[in-house]
Amino acid sequence: MKIDLHQAIEFIKQGRVIGVPTETVYGLAARLNDPEGIEQIFKLKGRPRNNPLIIHVPSSEKIYPFAKDMPEDFDKLAKAFWPGPITLVIPIKENLIPAVARANLSTAGFRVPKHHLAAELLKAVGPLVMPSANLSGRPSATGPEHVEMDFGVDFPVLDGGPCIKGLESTILCFDNGRWVIVRLGSLTAEEIKFVIGYTPEVRLAEKGSNPLCPGQMFKHYSPKAKLRFKGREDIPFVLGFRERTYEKKSVIFLGSLEHPLEVARDLYKVLRQLDEKEIDEVWVDMDFPADGLWQTIRERLEKASGA
Ligand code: TXA
Ligand code: MG
Repeated sequence: MKIDLHQAIEFIKQGRVIGVPTETVYGLAARLNDPEGIEQIFKLKGRPRNNPLIIHVPSSEKIYPFAKDMPEDFDKLAKAFWPGPITLVIPIKENLIPAVARANLSTAGFRVPKHHLAAELLKAVGPLVMPSANLSGRPSATGPEHVEMDFGVDFPVLDGGPCIKGLESTILCFDNGRWVIVRLGSLTAEEIKFVIGYTPEVRLAEKGSNPLCPGQMFKHYSPKAKLRFKGREDIPFVLGFRERTYEKKSVIFLGSLEHPLEVARDLYKVLRQLDEKEIDEVWVDMDFPADGLWQTIRERLEKASGA
């Protein structure tokens, strides 16, 4: 059920969980000071309790009161990329953030989203927790129709149309004096290097220990269709690129090799389309560049395949 900004503000004030557009993906929103709403988010998504939520604020100054101390270059990153698709994990004063939202950690991830509707909603109601608005394990929602697909046509969604970025925010943690990318996202390591002066290490999961980002432990972004990287000859469906030909195959396009921004923007929509078309199995053309946004696209496809 599509709602407007006015209704969204009312619903949030009443403690109802709603879908909210951001420039990355749609989020499921509840107020940070509404533990019941936060509980409901975990239930609705079927989300493991040990996976913390990102706190969204209307501007970076709002983060200071929560912070225990501010890591080096926090201000530089905030100034360069907010509002926008980056999440910064910092040590917090635990008494100020409900334990359920931060999965009992002594840190929390913060983001200032850019989408004008998210920004206006945050200004009106204050900090919101917002995980991606999909059932746990499914591809994220990049349009209001995807939120309805996962939570039903009666579920309220603030309608902001399709998301411009289409992939989640890049998450950075500060570890041992350096910023580390713990989730690849819409913002590339190259862009971050430009601001902090070094290429942040990408540390998605550490063997034999807890990853810096708990979300890395869980299955993700998966359509029902099986994504295969081998066995091209035997699979009739292909996820591929416009400038290539795939003989005797039924092709679903990821987009063009010339336009990674568009491939990123449409990726989850395309993955969801596989299920709408009731395709069981698809071969994925993984022959594309390794740098920039392609790195995130590759990681999402690998995760979606269960690899
Ligand atoms: O683009 C986005 O970030 C979207 C939009 C709605 O803002 N949100 C989003 O939330 O992707 P979610 O819940 O789907 O993913 C949040 C990720 C999880 O992998 C979680 O483990 C990680 O952020 N995270 C949250 N708090 C953390 C913390 N204190 N330390 C490390 N990772 C954290
Ligand atoms: Mg998610």
